[in-house]
Amino acid sequence: MSESIDELATRLRDARSVVVLTGAGMAAESGIPTFREEQTGLWARYRPEDLATPQAFARNPRLVWQWYAWRREIVRHAEPHAGHLALAALEGRIPSFSVVTQNVDGLHQRAGSRRVVEMHGNIFVDRCFREGDAVVPDDPQGEPPSCPRCGGPVRPGVVWFGESLPEEAVARSNSLLESCDVLLVVGSSGLVWPAAGFPGLARSRGAWVVEINPEPTESSGTAHLALREKAGTALARLAEVLREP
Ligand code: OAD
Repeated sequence: MSESIDELATRLRDARSVVVLTGAGMAAESGIPTFREEQTGLWARYRPEDLATPQAFARNPRLVWQWYAWRREIVRHAEPHAGHLALAALEGRIPSFSVVTQNVDGLHQRAGSRRVVEMHGNIFVDRCFREGDAVVPDDPQGEPPSCPRCGGPVRPGVVWFGESLPEEAVARSNSLLESCDVLLVVGSSGLVWPAAGFPGLARSRGAWVVEINPEPTESSGTAHLALREKAGTALARLAEVLREP
């Protein structure tokens, strides 16, 4: 592990542009459940088609709203861990450094990262189910609350199955990936598109691709280097090595 970390640190010292793609595993050590891990993953315990599609919300808005309210509470009580802090510190050392995240928890921003692209929205943003605009409901206790403009139901501002990703987030991440020297993929299973295609895209454009994940993933074959460690452990160690003269 230490040789690999050293190699990664050397690459980062020389890099002008770095992208970190994060998935649910990034927040696992903050106590936020992942999606696809056996036993503990959310999709092992709940059916996405009942809770994370526009059709599910149209059928049973109260159930979907309550499920997201429960997840919001978990996130509200979670704290960024050493890995989130290490990424925030790296931002100041590298000329262009961005986090592209599939997570909706805002933990990167809470740790101090400023250049964060949220591919799947944010769990603390509310949107009008009819019009899609971000809104602040007058009746936050409603289950779901109502849109202050049209009176329709308010939904969580996250991307659901079958929905398009925010256009601006897709455009920004594509342009970052096309020009990065190093792509770090942290805690993502590589099963959900378009993020699943990012390692291949970045590598085809000449980037050096590193995976940080205790388990092999769909993207492992595309990575030049894999660190089989937890995000917090590997990134904190990386930050330490980078601090060494
Ligand atoms: P997954 O749950 O599919 O994968 C989590 C990954 O994190 C797995 O590869 C684990 O091995 C890894 N992992 C677990 N603990 C870790 C740790 N401490 N450090 C590093 N890695 C760890 O989550 P995502 O790949 O993020 O979308 O899933 C992508 C999307 O699928 C999510 O954004 C969500 C989900 O359905 C929507 O809800 C639209």
